[in-house]
Amino acid sequence: MKVAIIGAGHMGGAIAKGLALGKAVAPEGIWVSNPSQGKLDWLKEEIPGMNVTSSNQEAATGAEYVYLAVKPWLVVPVLRSLKLKKGQALVSVAAGITFEALSGCLPHKDMAMFRIVPNTAARALQSMTLIASRNATDGQCAVLAGMLDGMGRTMFIDEAHIAAATALCSCGIAYVMKYVQACVQAGIELGIRPADGQKLVAQTLKGAASLLEEPDADPAKEIEAVCTPGGYTIRGINQLDHDGFPSAVIRALKASMPFTDINM
Ligand SMILES: NC(=O)c1ccc[n+]([C@@H]2O[C@H](COP(=O)([O-])OP(=O)(O)OC[C@H]3O[C@@H](n4cnc5c(N)ncnc54)[C@H](OP(=O)(O)O)[C@@H]3O)[C@@H](O)[C@H]2O)c1
Repeated sequence: MKVAIIGAGHMGGAIAKGLALGKAVAPEGIWVSNPSQGKLDWLKEEIPGMNVTSSNQEAATGAEYVYLAVKPWLVVPVLRSLKLKKGQALVSVAAGITFEALSGCLPHKDMAMFRIVPNTAARALQSMTLIASRNATDGQCAVLAGMLDGMGRTMFIDEAHIAAATALCSCGIAYVMKYVQACVQAGIELGIRPADGQKLVAQTLKGAASLLEEPDADPAKEIEAVCTPGGYTIRGINQLDHDGFPSAVIRALKASMPFTDINM
């Protein structure tokens, strides 16, 4: 199987690496194109079997899946220039560009299209990647999920819910980092060195995430398990509520919604 990745930036590079480390496609089947040579050289060094080129056309020709990982404002000109053929599936990474907008740049309206939303944890192969599909067969959906599972986890979702889910898991990375920064800052005041504090918080987040993976996981029960009546944790939890922590998080997620979905 040949797979093309157009654009070797943060997302394109992470996808290329994730695909190469997964089992769904051989490194020799991956073609990555990018205008500047440096990023291609770096990828080639990381995964020697992979093909790199400065020609988008060379990468896309004959590819069953064509990932488009350029900035949103370059989607229209780059997609038009690719002249994809029937049978090829487009996989757009561009935030906010709708299926309607993408199909306007394709030679056939009924071509298989995917919109995917990875997050920056793709770099560590721990992305939560959202996938929406249009005109794709079950087989094409399964193959795509198989490829993207190499860089973390995937979830199929309706296009209508992409904006909301993006707020949770793509913008969500930044909100979690904000919480980490605040914890480290508190740790410094309490006498913990920043580097140590960061390690402590990182492992605590991993531990909390693992608890959420258990069957019947429920954050409320996990909070209850730590809060002894009359103890210290409940004091902190109540303080978070008094200071509006849940409401600040809800407002932050809702505030990230408007940037999405452009019909060009
Ligand atoms: N970063 C995120 O967290 C994130 C999350 C979800 C979705 N996305 C989406 O992912 C897409 C890519 O974002 P990014 O963060 O990876 O951006 P990026 O790091 O700037 O990567 C974009 C790449 O596209 C290349 N490029 C420019 N013109 C091109 C052309 N004509 N043909 C082929 N490649 C070209 C650039 O190459 P040069 O640098 O050599 O010019 C660059 O390597 C965006 O549409 C964004 O909305 C990003």
